[in-house]
Amino acid sequence: MENIIFFFSGTGNSLALAQEIAINLDNTELHNMSGGFDGDLSSFERIGFIFPVYYGGVPPMVRDFIDGLKLTKSMYIFGAITRGGMAGSATDELVEIIEQSGGKLSCEFTVMMPGNYIAAYGALPDFIQKTLLSKSDEKAKKITDKIKVKLIDQNLKSSRDTTPLTKKMPDFPTFAKDYRVNHNCSGCNVCAKICPSKNITMINNKPHFDSVCQRCMACIQWCPVAAISYKGQIRARYRHPEIKAEELFRK
Ligand SMILES: Cc1cc2nc3c(=O)[nH]c(=O)nc-3n(C[C@H](O)[C@H](O)[C@H](O)COP(=O)(O)O)c2cc1C
Repeated sequence: MENIIFFFSGTGNSLALAQEIAINLDNTELHNMSGGFDGDLSSFERIGFIFPVYYGGVPPMVRDFIDGLKLTKSMYIFGAITRGGMAGSATDELVEIIEQSGGKLSCEFTVMMPGNYIAAYGALPDFIQKTLLSKSDEKAKKITDKIKVKLIDQNLKSSRDTTPLTKKMPDFPTFAKDYRVNHNCSGCNVCAKICPSKNITMINNKPHFDSVCQRCMACIQWCPVAAISYKGQIRARYRHPEIKAEELFRK
């Protein structure tokens, strides 16, 4: 393959964007960050990172994943960040993270998609989701055109002088202590397979949550019987309509 795109995705938005860009680019391998990576990146023409913004920043798992890569300044590296609202300092943070791994970000984009932070709100009405998703498909095409010609944005700035908000949140990985499982749970194991950080163990056919949660909300959103919730709250689930749970299972 000529190009590689690494993605991190809880509810499929970032995967759908990665797939769209990969199809438009052609000859592109997709790789879930939750599976780790120890290959050689030097032969790829283009290297992409696609993921959601969390609390105005880069999700810790994405930061850790990129930290573990060997990048060089001669590589063409792009980023695309999906968001439900404001990207905050995620774009500046990505510049800094890539720099710390030895690379240089060539260009980056943000793409508005339906929000999925079910700890605070439920899924948007269908018609709003459809509008956002059709606009994001259009944007994916425009992004691909720029990546194809290897656009270099000279105006990217780095957040190296500020501490990312997620790093100031000591309770970040223990979020799942507030997840609840109700009697609808059938023990199907989807939550354990989809969790990007192996935070879920099935005990007596019921999920138990450890303290390495990435807050992606995948377990809540993809449970086929809506048995998992945040603090027992009843809210409409969101999942990207063109993505299947299996596509997000940890490899
Ligand atoms: C923990 C968490 C924090 C989030 N913080 C933000 C935010 O600060 N700004 C924003 O625009 N969207 C935020 N979102 C929404 C997601 O970035 C957005 O819905 C994204 O497209 C989800 O991508 P995914 O389906 O690939 O997981 C947040 C979502 C989660 C789960």
